[in-house]
Amino acid sequence: MAVQEPPVIDFSPFYGPESPAKDKLVQEIREACETFGFFQIINHGISDDLRDAIIQQSKEFFGLPIETKERYNLDVNGNNRGYERLRSQNFEKRDKGDLEEGFYLGPHLPLDDPYVVQGRFEQTRNTYPVEVKDPGEFRGVMDGYSHALTGLAIGVLQMLARTLGLDEATFDDCRDHPVVILRLLHYPPQEPDASHLERGIGAHTDFGGVTILLQDETGGLQVWNNLSNDWADVTPIPGAFVVNLGNMMTRWTNDRYLSTLHRVINKSGKERYSVPFFFSPNPNKVIECLPTCLDPVQGAKYPPVTVHEWMVGRYADTYGRTNDQSFEEMRKEGAEK
Ligand code: OGA
Ligand code: NI
Repeated sequence: MAVQEPPVIDFSPFYGPESPAKDKLVQEIREACETFGFFQIINHGISDDLRDAIIQQSKEFFGLPIETKERYNLDVNGNNRGYERLRSQNFEKRDKGDLEEGFYLGPHLPLDDPYVVQGRFEQTRNTYPVEVKDPGEFRGVMDGYSHALTGLAIGVLQMLARTLGLDEATFDDCRDHPVVILRLLHYPPQEPDASHLERGIGAHTDFGGVTILLQDETGGLQVWNNLSNDWADVTPIPGAFVVNLGNMMTRWTNDRYLSTLHRVINKSGKERYSVPFFFSPNPNKVIECLPTCLDPVQGAKYPPVTVHEWMVGRYADTYGRTNDQSFEEMRKEGAEK
């Protein structure tokens, strides 16, 4: 029997007045967060033109010669913006690194912005490639997409606040200097027999608040289903975004909501393109258990931590050492199939 997939949720009531449909939306999101930490949204207000444009610009960048792409390597800038070559990551420590290449962008802040001066997490400047067909368009699409998705992420957080019995404005301080990471990804097809050697992206959980992912029609994204102890496909739905919760949300909610393992194996024989957008609050914001999530006996399970400390720590853990705890747990459960 096919493993149950994360639900597809109509987000349009968010844009309308208070209504039973809006209450239903809140209810659907709550259930998805408790069972999967993953769902898809349709009718989210982001145009197909913008979605198509970012995939198109991404294809143009990844289609450049490797020497050109390497000019934008993350190491050149040292500020986590730019190109990440194939097999740079290896989440599951397999024989070969993960079969994806990426390009990182975010808010393009002025050099004298106090957050840039203080070196707060991800408060920096972009590097935009000039060798793509239309560099002005590339830049316009990236910045426009980032702006639009920031608005959508704040909307998703407003609904998430309601799922937790909180005021819709609970997370609205995310508007000031949020931590925004826009990642273009390209997954070449894997050899059909290479599944034991490599992943497109190995099993991991996301670090931040919420992730909003645009995937093309190729497929290959899978999420761990805790109920059936198996991998569930996240089948591409035309026009949909995948939404998933990062680790920060489990701290906020005292583990009431899940931040679930996911991975990509691109067995389609085709190139796959996706664009994850990672959204977290202002780096100075303290993440601590929300009032409605405190355990009556034990209180909060996790000590308060700032967004800056948390993200820096998670990056160091993931890219400096190998012990991603949730992955170790999955291995122990014999889930590696
Ligand atoms: C990620 C991720 C999935 C995808 O970048 O964290 O899970 O479909 N990406 O590219
Ligand atoms: Ni992820």
